[in-house]
Amino acid sequence: MSGAVRLAPSVLAADFARLGELVREAEAAGADAIHIDVMDGRFVPVISLGTPIVEAVRRVTGLTLDIHLMIEEPERHVGAFMDAGGDVINVHVEATRHAHRIAREVRGRGKLAGACINPGTPVGVLEALLPELDQLIVMAVNPGWSGQKFIQGALPKVRSLRQMIDGAGLATQIEVDGGVTAENAPACAAAGANVLVAATAVFNDRASVAENIARLRAALAAGAGK
Ligand code: DX5
Ligand code: ZN
Repeated sequence: MSGAVRLAPSVLAADFARLGELVREAEAAGADAIHIDVMDGRFVPVISLGTPIVEAVRRVTGLTLDIHLMIEEPERHVGAFMDAGGDVINVHVEATRHAHRIAREVRGRGKLAGACINPGTPVGVLEALLPELDQLIVMAVNPGWSGQKFIQGALPKVRSLRQMIDGAGLATQIEVDGGVTAENAPACAAAGANVLVAATAVFNDRASVAENIARLRAALAAGAGK
């Protein structure tokens, strides 16, 4: 395993009327990145956020902006999301025939390239792409909504990818996205994840953003000691 697991709160579960304030709260509480979920109503049934929100978040934080494009033909839009201030541009392999070309375009602009796989997509599709990628996202829910239950089948996928990456001597990061809680975060880390995305576990009305981030960190620290 490589270093401390990082936390990337997803604003999808944030109160958008207070977006700037909540992103600042997450940064002050030690979030490592901000994950922004972009949905087009075609790749997934829902329409969520676009470049104006990325620009707005860019203005209030210096944190890495991790852009998760759940859109068809992402090659048509990656440039706009980089222009808007995205730092890591993640596309779904199911949504494009040209993940390799996109990754090269993203890296060519000095940004980080990521590829995501849905719960029903096997890890093998990522093998030939690995040298072009800075990050892999293993979905632990079917994309489209926050607040869904973690799919356990994500864990063996993370383990296989960890072996693939370490075996190839690469530094590609593995991010787990969907259904992450303090209960399952240690298992994600143990499987080999470097980054955990959490929307509902960070932005909810049960506790403050700082308390929720502290809870995830404490669970990871306790898990690491086992
Ligand atoms: C799902 C999104 C996730 C989502 C996670 O389509 O890609 O990033 O916001 O939400 P939680 O953490 O609530 O499962
Ligand atoms: Zn996401």
